Amino acid sequence: MSLYQLIYVSSAKNDIAEEDINNIIKSAINFNSKNDITGLLLYRSGIFMQLLEGSQTLIDPLFEKIKQDNRHNNIIQLIAQSAKERMYPNWAMGLKKLGDLDFKMVNEILSWNKLISAAHEIDKKLILHLLTRFKEAKLTL
Ligand SMILES: Cc1cc2nc3c(=O)[nH]c(=O)nc-3n(C[C@H](O)[C@H](O)[C@H](O)COP(=O)(O)O)c2cc1C
Repeated sequence: MSLYQLIYVSSAKNDIAEEDINNIIKSAINFNSKNDITGLLLYRSGIFMQLLEGSQTLIDPLFEKIKQDNRHNNIIQLIAQSAKERMYPNWAMGLKKLGDLDFKMVNEILSWNKLISAAHEIDKKLILHLLTRFKEAKLTL
């Protein structure tokens, strides 16, 4: 099976609650663990960034479903590509609430990407590097 990796950012709905995020993670862990899908969900101040990794035949329909989810909108796909290995092999879906520094970094990367994507070229390396930064600390509530 070839490995596929998808990364997007989105805006949480205005009145998103702690409970919504817990519910998202619960259903993600349940579905993903049954389907050999792994990844990471970053959250801070109304912004999600998610990495999904697994078989493309499973990730594509999952992403279609996630895009329809009314707990977020403005979904922007940053990366969709095949990969050699998983970044988060042990997490069916890790949740990381970003601290100030990490949030600043995400914002910087996203604003760079806006500039860069105007030229149709997203800085994939930078995004992938950012996502590896959360390996040690999975859950900071
Ligand atoms: C930001 C975000 C990330 C999500 N990530 C996943 C995920 O990784 N896996 C998953 O099964 N559902 C995920 N969901 C939830 C799905 O959109 C959907 O609600 C869930 O799969 C249940 O669908 P169902 O009611 O049709 O069974 C996510 C939702 C949001 C808003």
